[in-house]
Amino acid sequence: MNADPEVMRYFPRCFEREESDGIADLCEELIRQLGWGFWAVELKATGEFIGFTGLHAPTDALAFAPCIEVGWRLARNHWGQGYATEAGRAALKVGFEKLCLDEILSFTAKSNQPSLAVMQRLGMEYVEDFEHPALPEGHPLRAHQLYRLGARRWKDLGDPDTCIKTLNP
Ligand SMILES: CC(C)(COP(=O)(O)OP(=O)(O)OC[C@H]1O[C@@H](n2cnc3c(N)ncnc32)[C@H](O)[C@@H]1OP(=O)(O)O)[C@@H](O)C(=O)NCCC(=O)NCCS
Repeated sequence: MNADPEVMRYFPRCFEREESDGIADLCEELIRQLGWGFWAVELKATGEFIGFTGLHAPTDALAFAPCIEVGWRLARNHWGQGYATEAGRAALKVGFEKLCLDEILSFTAKSNQPSLAVMQRLGMEYVEDFEHPALPEGHPLRAHQLYRLGARRWKDLGDPDTCIKTLNP
């Protein structure tokens, strides 16, 4: 997944096997330390690994840090089936209902329409455009957009599964 140029199109570069494995190890270590993080996403039917989704405290010098972000990355053959939105909603549920966070942010390159669409489907609200400080001026991915979801809005949105069951008992 991390070596696929299409998956990594909105990131500065792809990762080699060793670096990708190092990131997976770091994800596991952070989950061990904190109890939460970027979790593996698996197909319920088969247990196949299809990507990751979860919560993360960004370490870059962002104007809105410290904060907790929700993020996602799926292997290309699993796009277009609603998995990122389903997994993103599960991560938000942990953030708001177990960790009792007041707000969760999400951000990506302004050109990353698929990821912005996941944020919008999750009910997150546009905050602002910003320049990502880790990328040099003039870099095509430097222009980013920030979205947020607050705990009150999360509660107001309700659980879509419950809503469907209520409408169609
Ligand atoms: C960002 C990313 C995870 C979005 O994937 P995605 O497949 O577009 O998003 P979802 O999994 O939520 O799927 C939504 C799509 O599935 C469709 N869909 C099909 N069946 C569905 C179902 N049962 N339920 C919900 N949606 C369904 C939706 O209509 C939507 O299609 P559309 O894009 O044509 O409108 C993916 O593009 C990716 O991994 N990109 C690379 C990594 C990346 O950029 N990450 C973000 C960086 S911050």
